This record gives sequence, C-alpha cells and structure tokens, in this order.
Amino acid sequence: MDIASLDTPCLILDIDIVESNIARMAAFLEGKPAKLRPHFKTPKTPEVARRQLAAGAVGITVAKLGEAEVLADAGIGPILMANQVVGPVKIDRLMALLARGADVTVAVESEFNVRELAEGAARSRQRPKAIIEVDSGMHRCGTTLPAQTVILAQKLQEAGIEYRGIMGYEGHAVLLPDEGERAEKATAALEIVRKHVEGLAEAGLAPEIVSVGGTGTFEISTLPEFVTDIQAGSYVFMDGRYSHVLPGRFDCALTLLTTVLTVREDYAVCDAGMKSLTNEFGSPRTADGSIKAARLSEEHAHLTGEGIASLHPGDRIELIPSHGDTTLNLHSTYHVRKGNEIVEEWPILGARKYH
Ligand SMILES: Cc1ncc(COP(=O)(O)O)c(C=O)c1O
Repeated sequence: MDIASLDTPCLILDIDIVESNIARMAAFLEGKPAKLRPHFKTPKTPEVARRQLAAGAVGITVAKLGEAEVLADAGIGPILMANQVVGPVKIDRLMALLARGADVTVAVESEFNVRELAEGAARSRQRPKAIIEVDSGMHRCGTTLPAQTVILAQKLQEAGIEYRGIMGYEGHAVLLPDEGERAEKATAALEIVRKHVEGLAEAGLAPEIVSVGGTGTFEISTLPEFVTDIQAGSYVFMDGRYSHVLPGRFDCALTLLTTVLTVREDYAVCDAGMKSLTNEFGSPRTADGSIKAARLSEEHAHLTGEGIASLHPGDRIELIPSHGDTTLNLHSTYHVRKGNEIVEEWPILGARKYH
C-alpha cells in the first residue's frame, strides 16, 4: 500500500528502524551479565515483543495487568509486572492469568500487599511469584531500608509466594539531559540497590532477579555485576525527547502522518491535535527539525519554523512525537512502513489499558 492512500492523522512505524534499534541493544548487551527485559509500555504490540525476545530478551516488563493480558493472549512471556497489584479486583485478575498458565511475576513493596496476594492465592489456589520493589531514589513506590526488603522476602516465603528478587527503577535519572549528572544519579541509585542485594545475601535470600534501568541509563545500569536485567522500553521506537538525551544511540521509528490544512505568512496548521499527539515533553518536530508543532488544540496543530515557507495546503508531513508512549496510546493501529510502502497494519493491542 502506498503511504499516499493513508488517511491522516495516523501513526507510521518504520520497521527497519525498529529492527535496527533491537539489534543495536542486543549487540550492546552481548557478553554482558545483564540481559534485556524490555518494557511493553512503549511498543504495546506483541509484534515488537516477539522480535525483542528473538534478539535475546529474557522476558517482557509491563506496567499493568491489561498489558500482561495482551501478552498472555499472544502466548508471550515470561512477564514481569513492574508495579504492585493492589485490591481484590486486580488480585483476582492476576490469579486468573496464573490459572491460564501465564508466567507472571509481580512487584510488591509492603506487608499489606504481601497479605493481599497471599489471600488471593488462597482463594484461587494459585502460587504467585514476586519481586520486591526497592526505592532507589525516585521516591515513587518501593522499600527504603535493606532490612525492610529482607523482612518482605521472608514474608513472601512464609506466605507461600515465590520470592524471586528485587527491582529498582531510577526514573529520576533516565531523562536528565546532562550526561554527567545522569551518570551520577544513576550510579547513586545502583549503589542503593547494591545495599539491598547485599542485605538479602547476608540473610540467605540472594536474589535471582535484580532488575533496574531505563533507556536513558541502559549503559550505566549494565555496569554492576549484580544487575541481571534492564527494563528499557523507549529505546525500541525512541522519541523526540529521548533522542536529545541519548543522541546517536537509537533512531526514531515512530512518526505521525498529518495533512497541512492552511499556510499563512508565519505559521501553518495541520490536522493533528491533542487527540492524536501529545506535547508534555515539548514540541513534536519533523525529522530535520525545520517544522515544529508549537501549539496543539483538540484537532489542530499550529506549525512554526523555517520549513513552513515551502508548505502548501494538502501537503503531508511527518512529526516525530516528543513523547512516543503517550502519543501512541491515543491510537489503535501502527501502519508499518518499509521504505515507501506500508507493508502491514499492526493493532496496538496494549493501548488504553487503563488498569
Ligand atoms: C518501572 C519502569 N521500568 C523501566 C522504565 C523504562 O522506561 P524508558 O525506557 O522509557 O526509560 C519505566 C518507565 O516508565 C518504568 O516505569
């Protein structure tokens, strides 16, 4: 199918770039003790997860049960849910997944959470698997003291839940644009994780999994010998914001195709507004940077930059989202491009899974 026959706005995914990003990450990790457990919050399609597993990923990380259900439906695993499953409604959904044979490990961070999981397990006669989330400085969820982590590991074992290890996500470091500051903050986060690993080992509870890291810290997070895997997700598509933080490491695979509606002396308008594009990480831009979507309203983007001088109504331009994950979550289909052809359409099965 020719790109010209697509209606706009719509997402285009360059499969050659996706595959090259997957291959670059795999080449970087080759021979290192740390493997990849890529985060599904970015691609949200089994088509990409399968390619990541084929390139050596040891499993897939998810944020929500809805994403885990999409992977389980596609027969993909093992799945690591890097968030807590809280409340009986969600816990019973997790147990239903386990009853289907899905290989899911969830994060826990409190004794309350362990008790709820144990109660759900007793209700459904399932044996959940868990890792303990450690707060490595982001101050979201997670244990703070190694002694707390040790107690939680013991509680998991007492409750008959399979204790597998720990995770610590340094989300406060991943997007820092200054490489030195990013390395400093990520290293400090890893030192916190190290203390928890040591505390567990001293208590005879050495973790099998130590999962950390995002795209912005993939190089630093793989340095310590105790890290078993990293949870980078954005690397596979990249986006405008991350390509400034990590120039040259990966390429942008995702664009939004949009049609120019009007061209004025100092601005133009296209048919991509905040219902199809997000801008919380800055203005989406064309690949050459000559046009930016300076302002979004519901169905329109206000375009500025030197590139608008050559635009005409009806022209089509591709914008690189500044934040890929939230943009693609607004859509239902990837139009998969190879060269100038659209070769496939992939449903974004994990989009808008709110829980
Ligand atoms: C728990 C967790 N792990 C890993 C990531 C990695 O994400 P990215 O690759 O976008 O840095 C995130 C991002 O939100 C996360 O929440």
